[in-house]
Amino acid sequence: MSPRPNGFARALRRFRDSAAFAILVSSIAGVIGTTAVSVAAAHGAQLPRPRWSADERTMLKSLSLTSLQPLAPDPSNRFGDDPRAAALGRELFFDTRLSGNGKVSCATCHVPAQDLQDGTPLAHGVGTTARRTMPIAGTAHNSWFFWDGRTDSQWAQALGPLESAVEHGGTRAQYAHVIAKHYRGEYEDVFGALPSLVQVPRNAGPVADNAARGAWQRLPSTQRDEISRVYANIGKAIAAFERRIELAPSRFDRYVDTELAGRPHDSTDVLSSNEEAGLRLFIGKANCVNCHNGPLFTDNHFHNTGVPKSKLELPVDSGRALGVRQAVAGEFNCASRYSDAKPDDCEELTFAVTEGDELVRAYKTPSLRSVAARAPYMHAGQFASLNEVLSHYNRAPAAPFGKSELRPLHLSPTELSQLAAFLQLLTTPIATPKGWLEQPSTHVNGDKGHVNNY
Ligand code: HEC
Ligand code: HEC
Repeated sequence: MSPRPNGFARALRRFRDSAAFAILVSSIAGVIGTTAVSVAAAHGAQLPRPRWSADERTMLKSLSLTSLQPLAPDPSNRFGDDPRAAALGRELFFDTRLSGNGKVSCATCHVPAQDLQDGTPLAHGVGTTARRTMPIAGTAHNSWFFWDGRTDSQWAQALGPLESAVEHGGTRAQYAHVIAKHYRGEYEDVFGALPSLVQVPRNAGPVADNAARGAWQRLPSTQRDEISRVYANIGKAIAAFERRIELAPSRFDRYVDTELAGRPHDSTDVLSSNEEAGLRLFIGKANCVNCHNGPLFTDNHFHNTGVPKSKLELPVDSGRALGVRQAVAGEFNCASRYSDAKPDDCEELTFAVTEGDELVRAYKTPSLRSVAARAPYMHAGQFASLNEVLSHYNRAPAAPFGKSELRPLHLSPTELSQLAAFLQLLTTPIATPKGWLEQPSTHVNGDKGHVNNY
């Protein structure tokens, strides 16, 4: 069977959720609206000028969290909605035994009290990364992960930092041993029997460390496959945990929902004139919704926006141009032997654009939810404040390489401050099951069990 009909259906769904469709619908609604007004005018009625036009109302609705579709199952992870997998994933997310030095967990960089990021330009694990930590809430709705989209699922994403020499800095053999020693029961309940690891050295994996890579190559291929399967399941459990980290309405959502329902605003959602002006710029003259659209304020695409190189950038970072190749070649991608998907389910990967100048130094459009609360900004924390970000958009400098899609906006200082005021409205609480983001009690940092003693 060809995957096309499926892909097309999904593209149609995408379009239905997109700003372009919103504009189409609202143009039609606009025509009907105009007719109604002229009929009313013909009858001599006095209609108050509405605050938002029909087009704008459709656009506002598309940005409200109420327009977010319920999270669809991830066909590549059949454990994604299994509560036992999620409970195991929660333990693993906080467990520093899953690292080369016994000190790093996912929560080291994705700090629960800081919107699951760390507030620094470049993240620090076992070493220092070349990119900024991304927030996690709501990302289960995404199609591509990392700034360059080099993985196509949340579970494959989780496997990247675990073997990265500068993040967790361990190996997949080490992690399989940790599971066998500390999580055997929980793991086997969900994923079935663990393979025997008696002959498996403590450190082995296809990673940068020569000794670990040599040990990995010496293992029989069936054993490598068994360990990689345990490793994939670690990612699937962590993804099941992350899928339950959702978003709750912000002031912006409350404003839109109240406004569109025609209810009077109260003090918790009314907008100041500056905030309203900022919102008008965001969806109008400043073109922000070209890329930051939909209820998560991202189009799930990659753009070169001329962000300068970071001071430490060596070698050069080509962004999506390399990321998409890594996704297509990915050992754990949707089409891989470790995925639970049927080929038809992998349309994002199958139809990914892999060539083109527009991919050069293009990065994922980040969600703007809670953006005001998490400086610094951009893929390597190049800008320290929202003012610096907005001044970048206003000037639209040439890209360090590749071609920036931006054009100068020529906004006045007042307009820039209005945009900044609007972005504050997007501060969005995280919604999870109770206690979900608290460190599990069995894993207190510094606890004996956390010395590297798997
Ligand atoms: C050393 C700090 C560090 C650690 C540890 C770490 N991350 Fe990250 N995380 C990052 C950075 C930096 C990025 C962006 C990297 C890039 O694009 O190259 C990122 C990206 C992500 C993303 C992508 C979000 C998106 O919108 O695409 C998710 C999800 C994520 N991390 C989850 C995890 C999980 C799960 C773990 C543990 C297995 C983990 N991270 C461990 C720093 C870290
Ligand atoms: C052409 C698409 C595009 C347009 C138009 C656009 N953005 Fe962005 N935005 C991006 C991309 C891509 C990034 C990340 C770039 C990077 O890290 O190199 C980004 C990053 C940001 C960030 C930093 C978020 C973070 O977590 O680091 C903010 C804030 C932001 N944009 C706000 C705006 C505003 C306000 C406007 C309108 C003035 C706007 N954007 C217009 C694509 C766009």
